[in-house]
Amino acid sequence: MSVIPISLNQLQPLSPEQHREWCAQLEAGDILYFPQTPIAIPEIDLQFLLGQQQTDSSLHKNIAYKPNIDRLSGVDTKTADAEAVAKLQGIMRKYSKSVTEFLTGFLEPYKANWQLDYASFRPQEEEGRDLPQRRRNDLLHTDAFPTRPTYGARILRFFNNIHPARTRDWVVSDPFAAIVKQFAPSEIAPRVDSALSRAAKSLGRGIGLDAAIPSIKRSPYDDFMMRFHNFLKENPDFQANCPKHSFNFPSGSSWMVYTDTVPHAVLAGQYALEQTFLVCPEALVRPEISPLKVLESIAGASLV
Ligand code: SIN
Ligand code: FE
Repeated sequence: MSVIPISLNQLQPLSPEQHREWCAQLEAGDILYFPQTPIAIPEIDLQFLLGQQQTDSSLHKNIAYKPNIDRLSGVDTKTADAEAVAKLQGIMRKYSKSVTEFLTGFLEPYKANWQLDYASFRPQEEEGRDLPQRRRNDLLHTDAFPTRPTYGARILRFFNNIHPARTRDWVVSDPFAAIVKQFAPSEIAPRVDSALSRAAKSLGRGIGLDAAIPSIKRSPYDDFMMRFHNFLKENPDFQANCPKHSFNFPSGSSWMVYTDTVPHAVLAGQYALEQTFLVCPEALVRPEISPLKVLESIAGASLV
């Protein structure tokens, strides 16, 4: 995997092949990196976002924005200042719209077949956060949503480091197809009878997984992806011995990556914005290397 820098003057004009090439690079596990963000965020909005840690408002926690219903979640409306909440909501609405507009052009092959998911504001210092093991983001992991199965759609995330000075420090590892075979070989061996769901269960056996996952209708694919997320975070051998590449994304930069397949961890940094997209299997330019296809070929059965 590699980090592919893209400068703003590379963005116009673009050939159809170039759009497909960027999609293909993302799908192969590369990070597309914009040293200078292509997303315009007004200075006044940045100042508001950066001011949140200093105030008492409850807006200092990581906050999700749901663009489809125009709502913030993670805000304690009892203690939050209504005016500040409205302001944050307006900023997130604009951010979400700008990223969507940009990527609709940049990743043109996806645009008819993706779903706009949540955006987030991440004002907390990432170094030394005290979180339960499965929620720690400083351990390498692939992303999966505990309450929102994707049925094979892929999780694409776009980030902005809006800290005025500091880098956001990531470590990433080799993508899914390599690690799924290397780090969980016996558990995920192809099984004709059970598809992958039984194999997925064995990944979580003995670590009290079932109690932690709300009973939501998931496909065997989602089940595996959720368990694999936990398995990686709870696997000291993987954490210690997997290949690691460090990238410190500077202030004012953006990057995007398929976080469902590129193991990633954030070690330090503060103040980021992020927008997630769910890219449907039909939109992928290299479906054969998608996690769904990789797992289905291991299982020898359909998983959604
Ligand atoms: C994560 O998705 O694990 C966290 C990434 C970040 O906030 O930089
Ligand atoms: Fe993550």
